[in-house]
Amino acid sequence: MNILLTGGLGFIGSHTAVVLAQQGHQVVILDNLCNSQMEVLANLESITGKKLRFYEADIREGLALRKILSDNQIEAVMHFAGLKSVAESAQDPLKYYDNNVCGTINLIEAMQAEKINKFIFSSSATVYGVPQYLPYDEDHPLEPINTYGKTKLQVEEILQDLVKSDPSWSVVALRYFNPVGAHESGLIGESPKGVPNNLMPYICQVASGKLPHLNIFGDDYETKDGTGERDYIHVMDLAEGHVAALNFVNQHPGFHAINLGTGVSYSVYDLIGAFEQAANSMIVRKVQPRRSGDLAIYYAKADKAKNLLGWQAKRDLQVMCKSGWNFHKQKS
Ligand code: NAD
Ligand code: UD1
Repeated sequence: MNILLTGGLGFIGSHTAVVLAQQGHQVVILDNLCNSQMEVLANLESITGKKLRFYEADIREGLALRKILSDNQIEAVMHFAGLKSVAESAQDPLKYYDNNVCGTINLIEAMQAEKINKFIFSSSATVYGVPQYLPYDEDHPLEPINTYGKTKLQVEEILQDLVKSDPSWSVVALRYFNPVGAHESGLIGESPKGVPNNLMPYICQVASGKLPHLNIFGDDYETKDGTGERDYIHVMDLAEGHVAALNFVNQHPGFHAINLGTGVSYSVYDLIGAFEQAANSMIVRKVQPRRSGDLAIYYAKADKAKNLLGWQAKRDLQVMCKSGWNFHKQKS
């Protein structure tokens, strides 16, 4: 199929591009480079041995979008483009609503005009908010506690209304848990600008000596060892989940929200331990007060993905840490 990946040079989009191209799909990438670099394209071509079509464009540019969709006879869109910092979304909410919500409306309007109705959306476990029970299943109440999460929920609601108004649309909202790791080549991975917010990229920078120590945000949670627990998922598993979702949207009109997680939670200490083994180095750490807005623990019920998509995560914490570290070493 001819597939457009918005935000396809970013962390998750680039790994998905690899899997799609290797399965024989025609991958077209659109990205405005606000959080990615052109060199990712060359690395994608070197991994896949294929030339990928790339457009430096913004999802808020309606006419450009329509031309890209029609020139490439696009049949389905995977929509990764978005801003994802919880802290920044609190400081600059309009930027987040504009990019994530208005940008998505613009994109689906262009699709509608070009009569393309297969859509896979990058949603997030953040839409659930404070757990009322665990694991989160897809029917858990949706009460995001930050602006970033609200933008994801708003888009899901817009997509549901769209499907109600025109049942020929086929939409899957994939609610990702905590993506980590990198492609085994070490050529693509997660490279946040500035000081990382997320745990795995921060640990990598401590291991390489770029940062002096890891701050552990709280060791007094009601979890197995007092630190926060999360459902970390290898980005290549996530990428394969998108291919499974593509096969699904081809046959199932309607709106479907599906968790992509492993169903297992690991603590900060678990991740540090696995990383130390994978990188064969000690991670200096200091316990700090809890980070505001953090939840103690959450993880996915992953059954719906298994039942509907025939997909489940395969890679373990060791592989996540090894591949993440391998990418970081090669890059620095
Ligand atoms: P990323 O920042 O690495 O990739 C997003 C890409 O989109 C970047 O290359 C960026 O340049 C591009 N982009 C942003 N706004 C754009 C716009 N207006 N027009 C064109 N391109 C634009 O992020 P990621 O980690 O790959 O995340 C991909 C998607 O998944 C995002 O929508 C994010 O909110 C969602 N998500 C990510 C996580 C995570 O932990 N990484 C978790 C849940 C959901
Ligand atoms: C964060 C976002 C979430 C987003 C997710 C993407 C917040 C409040 N939430 O989630 O919306 O979907 O990233 O992956 O920002 N930790 C440390 N030290 C660090 C960094 C993190 O101890 O330097 C701890 C955190 O307290 C948490 C765990 O590690 O317990 C994971 O943190 P992180 O990687 O930032 O992910 P989330 O908090 O789950």
